[in-house]
Amino acid sequence: MRWTVSRTSLADTAGDLMIYPVFQKNDEADLKPLKADLRGLDGGGPGLLTLIRKSGFTGGAESLFPVPCPGVKAGWILLAGLGKAEETGLETLRKVAGLAAKRARTMKAERVLVQVPVSGALGFDDRTIARCWVEGSELALAAIGELKTGKKKPVLPRQGKLLAGGSRAKALREGVFEAEAFAAGCNFARHLVNLPPNILTPRDLAARSRRMARAEGLTCRILNVAQMKKLNMGGILGVGQGSRQEPRLIDLQYRAPGAAGRKAPSIALVGKGITFDSGGISLKPGAGMDLMKGDMGGAAAVLGAGLIAARLKLPVNLRVIVPTAENMPDGLAVKPADVITMASGKTVEVLNTDAEGRLVLADALWYAGRDKPDYIIDAATLTGACVIALGNHFAGLMSNSGTLVDALKQAGGETFERVWHLPLVDEHKKEVEGTWSDLQNLGKGREGGALTAAAFLSYFVDDETPWAHIDIAGPSWSTAATATGPKGGTGFGARLMARALQILVS
Ligand code: BES
Ligand code: ZN
Ligand code: ZN
Repeated sequence: MRWTVSRTSLADTAGDLMIYPVFQKNDEADLKPLKADLRGLDGGGPGLLTLIRKSGFTGGAESLFPVPCPGVKAGWILLAGLGKAEETGLETLRKVAGLAAKRARTMKAERVLVQVPVSGALGFDDRTIARCWVEGSELALAAIGELKTGKKKPVLPRQGKLLAGGSRAKALREGVFEAEAFAAGCNFARHLVNLPPNILTPRDLAARSRRMARAEGLTCRILNVAQMKKLNMGGILGVGQGSRQEPRLIDLQYRAPGAAGRKAPSIALVGKGITFDSGGISLKPGAGMDLMKGDMGGAAAVLGAGLIAARLKLPVNLRVIVPTAENMPDGLAVKPADVITMASGKTVEVLNTDAEGRLVLADALWYAGRDKPDYIIDAATLTGACVIALGNHFAGLMSNSGTLVDALKQAGGETFERVWHLPLVDEHKKEVEGTWSDLQNLGKGREGGALTAAAFLSYFVDDETPWAHIDIAGPSWSTAATATGPKGGTGFGARLMARALQILVS
């Protein structure tokens, strides 16, 4: 939807639905601000306030209560409970905004007005409030189901107007601009994850990345099989050799604008892009295998982060690198006991063809490290072990850099894409030393699977380069709709990494 900021008052502004956030105070809805706003309005005033008081609506977080109000042009007010001001966090704002936006959709309201909550009560500035509100709304209204035929498209809210007096407008507009970029990056990532694997093949992912890059002003290079052969990328080629869909390496670049470009830090984001993970010869069980269309969630996240960085013209020199392949069983597929030679020159015994993510990432991390970036961050749906350890609401974070751990933890707290710091130590590195080759793609036991996977990756990153690995196998997919999104791909990581970039350059 298109968002604007308006100075006009609630009574005068035309629209279909007025969303009015309300705090809870002493276990009751705090209706004082509404009372002031409704003063002198037809159909507003005491009658309406009594009705609300009698309704049982307390302003509790995430509760909604629509009331007809002929005195405002919109005709309806949708009261949206924010909970107690001292407990309202950034994510509460996103969730309440998301739920209100979805209610607006059910009410077929096309023009939505939002009375912006006052920053004093919340302790956040207006820019942050607008950013969370608009981001929450845009994330919530993300569409899925484009592949369904014969169904009428729902009426979607098209216009959002934030109402706020005088001097607040500038900060609110800045917040809206940022929110639109963040939501676009996340929704782009979600869309990629949701696409079926017969459509989103490695080549198709490359084509979509190129289109995104063109639209957003990044440069784009796609390496094909011959070009990867020249670089001896045995990891990506090995994983891809069992599929008739050829692998690719996607390499996007965004340069900080103007003079800032020379001084700006260089950051490489690397994302696992397995468009379907059948397990290969070490075939996965049938139940739930469909979820493995989402095994390119890391790729989606770094592409989304690249989109956000470019839209916000962040002062970074960014590289977005995606090794993409389809992992399939075949007569020519890589098999357990095969030894492959990676781009870095290291030899790896493939003990399990289902541990393919680390093989494609290893070549991409080496490729990212060639021009010595200041930071490397990778995101990958890498291990089931990480899901067992942390569940679906946290990503695992393993890193050789305190700076990156701090930045990603802070970013995750703010975007609510939370990361949990896990160890990366020599003991785990020893676990993946090979018997017949330099390395093997499995630990010696099943214990600490997320950690041995990260340890494997560490062999392909220079010790001196600050690097963080984010295992998003848990949070990149949601089995149910939430306040801020449909079920399916969550886009986890796009906003997190974009926010981390902002923090790293601030
Ligand atoms: N893509 C999977 C990991 C995964 C699991 C992602 C669940 C999302 C949800 C990965 O390639 C894989 O299969 N990993 C194996 C590694 C094992 C063979 C060492 C796993 O986690 O079982
Ligand atoms: Zn696998
Ligand atoms: Zn995988």
